[in-house]
Amino acid sequence: MSVELDNVWRTHLVRATCETEAFPSNYGAGERLQEKILQKTAKIGIIGQGYVGLPLAIVFNRFDFSVLGFEKNVEKIKLLNEGVSYIQDVPSRDVEKYRKLGKFEATSDFPRLKDCDVVIICVPTPLAKTQDPDMSFILSAVESIARNFREGQLVILESTTYPGTTREVVLPILEAAQKQTNKQKLRVGRDFFLAFSPERVDPGNKKYSVFNTPKVVGGVTSICADLACLFYAQALKQVVRVSSPETAEMVKLLENTFRAVNIGLVNEVAVMCEKLGIDCWEVIEAAASKPFGYMPFYPGPGLGGHCIPIDPSYLSWKLRGLNYTARFIELAREVNASMPQFCIRKVISALNMDSTAVNGSRVLVLGVSYKKDIDDVRESPAIDVIHELEAMGAKVDYYDPFVAKLNYEGIQKASKNWSDGLGSDYECVVIITDHTEVDYEAILKSAKRIVDTRNALKKFKHEKIVKL
Ligand SMILES: NC(=O)c1ccc[n+]([C@@H]2O[C@H](COP(=O)([O-])OP(=O)(O)OC[C@H]3O[C@@H](n4cnc5c(N)ncnc54)[C@H](O)[C@@H]3O)[C@@H](O)[C@H]2O)c1
Repeated sequence: MSVELDNVWRTHLVRATCETEAFPSNYGAGERLQEKILQKTAKIGIIGQGYVGLPLAIVFNRFDFSVLGFEKNVEKIKLLNEGVSYIQDVPSRDVEKYRKLGKFEATSDFPRLKDCDVVIICVPTPLAKTQDPDMSFILSAVESIARNFREGQLVILESTTYPGTTREVVLPILEAAQKQTNKQKLRVGRDFFLAFSPERVDPGNKKYSVFNTPKVVGGVTSICADLACLFYAQALKQVVRVSSPETAEMVKLLENTFRAVNIGLVNEVAVMCEKLGIDCWEVIEAAASKPFGYMPFYPGPGLGGHCIPIDPSYLSWKLRGLNYTARFIELAREVNASMPQFCIRKVISALNMDSTAVNGSRVLVLGVSYKKDIDDVRESPAIDVIHELEAMGAKVDYYDPFVAKLNYEGIQKASKNWSDGLGSDYECVVIITDHTEVDYEAILKSAKRIVDTRNALKKFKHEKIVKL
């Protein structure tokens, strides 16, 4: 299958692959890898088969590449090798198809990294309890590569991380790996190749997938960048080359910090509007009518997911080490982190209208995933809201059509079954996630009081609704 390449990129590619500067004739390892990539015989290894790694594997399968998915979780390996997907955006029929074609296999046999020409790292980058970057997953993945390293491999880090990681953390470990034959050190840009390319996947997004979201790439040397760009261009619609891995690392952090800061701003607008007695949703909607110079962001019960609440902290951590405080990031974090408490205050007000205390009340949390129409509960504000309400003595249930069981951060619950009268069993319903398929009219009819943190009930006007 051929890819329609963006014209600018096509020109660049021709230049990168033809100009002598990019691939001098004595660059054996680079040329051989280039050939394998163009022939689609380059074997791909992807470390981490989660929300990022699995969709990436399948998109390269679609363009005829063979992929080995390296994973530590044995349950995930078993499912994938049986042709079953656990990622909502990847249909099981795709995994099954490429398993049958012999193009995809999941494994924990890390010595097989030696068989791979291109190795991509897609492991988690969470925060430690101290809010510092937890680099243990990246380190473990890179050490596995180093133990099985050979000449001619292209390694690409996709996990979100602070600027400098590829060059300062990954590169020294790989450079220290010895050539198996003559024990000479492998040199980047000559014997092996290293790049950073941030993953930008947006789970649940029907319009933009891995395939049609432009891929930013920064190489440690110009040949590293050439090869990494050439590689991605085989299966992705557009590749955007930047001058260094640090730039590519910073691009991802700018994107996510932009969201965190703007959401922080609009969350503060919601708090200010409450004090002013103004409906913040009406303000935001009217402001969005401006066709230039404004982009709407929406308030909510707090940030969630693996990216927006976490990634900006990687940047501010790095800057702290340079004696600089990333003020916008810190302020946005403070405002966003206060939103679950703001929601709790709304629940207290809603119950107060019926002279009811939180202690002993039954509360239904509607939606526990961190955003609508997906099943991911990582860092979801619903978790804080449930913990806080239970600490105050409320009896909390939840309903979420995407999350049948919630087993996260000390909460173990099963979703209530849907019925049109579900709301009538509770003193208050709190909408935390505005899933599209929920029948909000039925909830409005059956509930005694509703706290709507997402403006899911914007079509309706009723005194029992308490808006954010
Ligand atoms: N989920 C998103 O929407 C998203 C979007 C853009 C970027 N990212 C970034 O991509 C990276 C991966 O995120 P994710 O959401 O795919 O995480 P995930 O938790 O869904 O998947 C990571 C997988 O890696 C496996 N793993 C961990 N250590 C391993 C190791 N040493 N060897 C092999 N497998 C290992 C885990 O078992 C897990 O299955 C993170 O840096 C994240 O910030 C995520």
